[in-house]
Amino acid sequence: MTQILAIYGSPRRKGNTSLLLQQAVKGAREVGAQVEEIVLRDLTMSPCLEIYGCKETGRCVIKDDFQKVYDQILACQGIMLASPIFFYTVSAHTKILMDRCQSFWVKGYWIEARPFGKKPDKRKGLFISVGATKGKKLFDGVHVTVKYFFDALETELWRTLLYRSLDFEGDILKHPDYLEEAFQAGRALAQALEQDD
Ligand SMILES: Cc1cc2nc3c(=O)[nH]c(=O)nc-3n(C[C@H](O)[C@H](O)[C@H](O)COP(=O)(O)O)c2cc1C
Repeated sequence: MTQILAIYGSPRRKGNTSLLLQQAVKGAREVGAQVEEIVLRDLTMSPCLEIYGCKETGRCVIKDDFQKVYDQILACQGIMLASPIFFYTVSAHTKILMDRCQSFWVKGYWIEARPFGKKPDKRKGLFISVGATKGKKLFDGVHVTVKYFFDALETELWRTLLYRSLDFEGDILKHPDYLEEAFQAGRALAQALEQDD
């Protein structure tokens, strides 16, 4: 069965990105995917300490909730990541997870000597984000960050859902079309993964 990991990166439990991701999860489950959900604010996760304990085995040596997340990433074929825009990049919760995933980067590029530039093909990833403003460049920074984060996880940035001009909790509810788009994207991701099998 197709396994998808859904990662909630907002500090708000019922914030805009969370409601969008919930819809994507619903869509994926509707077509039979098994989806595990993790809420980063509920986890105890140290930032990366840059000690490179991961150099031996590719596994981070800091013993906290990241250990389980590492296994969940290894086990899945699809990743759905949702984060609000905070100062033109991801939330701090999301960035901590990303930096801990340097262990995947070390595993791939140092230990297994994966050539740079090779298209990652193990997983497909959906990225969902929301920002308050409407600037043209609002998602430029986060796009590069997520692309290379997914690359470390051998994950293709399969699709992005990016919405501007949403600030307060619940603003997303005024846009049922965005929620429907997220639902359909979740469905489509699960179906695309099913086809890859
Ligand atoms: C610390 C912080 C930094 C933010 N930085 C930006 C920003 O750079 N650009 C922007 O458009 N909105 C910014 N926002 C607004 C959020 O992106 C916006 O409120 C979004 O809807 C929150 O999504 P959420 O409900 O999923 O957490 C910021 C909000 C916070 C709390």
